[in-house]
Amino acid sequence: MGYQTLDVEILSGAMGAVLHGPDLSAELSNRTFDEIHQAFLDHGAIFFRDQNLDPHQQIAFGRRFGPLLVYPFMEGLREAPEAFEILKTETDTKNFGGGWHSDMAYAETPPLGTMLYAIEVPETGGDTMFANTTLAYEALSDGMKGMLDGVIGVNSAALKRSGGRAASFKTATAMKSKNSDQFDMEAEHPIVRTHPETGRKGLYVSRGHTARLKDMTEAESNPLIEYLADHCVRPEFTCRFHWEVGSLALWDNRRVKHFAIDDYPGQRRRMRRLTIEGDRPV
Ligand code: SIN
Repeated sequence: MGYQTLDVEILSGAMGAVLHGPDLSAELSNRTFDEIHQAFLDHGAIFFRDQNLDPHQQIAFGRRFGPLLVYPFMEGLREAPEAFEILKTETDTKNFGGGWHSDMAYAETPPLGTMLYAIEVPETGGDTMFANTTLAYEALSDGMKGMLDGVIGVNSAALKRSGGRAASFKTATAMKSKNSDQFDMEAEHPIVRTHPETGRKGLYVSRGHTARLKDMTEAESNPLIEYLADHCVRPEFTCRFHWEVGSLALWDNRRVKHFAIDDYPGQRRRMRRLTIEGDRPV
């Protein structure tokens, strides 16, 4: 589409666009917001540079897309509980979000989108990668598409494959985890979900969250989960974003997976994250 209020810089052939123009700390006109929303649907992940946002301003922008969720596993900011900080310090040895996933797939109604704002960034590294699961679905053979029709994934917060979310949060980083009773949250969602706004189908499966396929054993499920998880993130379906202080990203969890790259040992990275409520995947 032709945008009037945005200058759009495409990040890769698969997805992702940097939107130049808007100052997100100000109240956006409906016209600018409508174009931002359209760019979000068109590109799957949108990015802004050189923003200067306090938590309330970030929350106000997030709310233009819908009500916000409170993340169950990390302490929110005192002044704005809908937002929390992703922090990796010089001495932390593990990052948050370092595995391909779509946020909170284990929730009955996972977030529509996630918004991340960069407060401190490492001198080198710390990029985030994104993968377009609509393209990944469309590239499958008709035989595979037919086989996946009606298959349900059982998504779990327990992260069994990597030793448990509670344990990983306790040992991982300087971040403030909550004493949550939801570490075993589970939800069943179709492996192929239809985007509620574009009507396009995409894959909804990941190693970290999809524990098994419904009515199958783990041994039966695992090869298919692993195949699809790898297929989704083939290089031609991805883009990569390099953070600067003041960068902001918003990605569509309904059609995008992401991966926070852990390649900056000994350096700090501090981001502010919030999530926007979504629908039950269908
Ligand atoms: C996340 O998975 O939300 C973290 C992404 C990042 O820190 O780049």
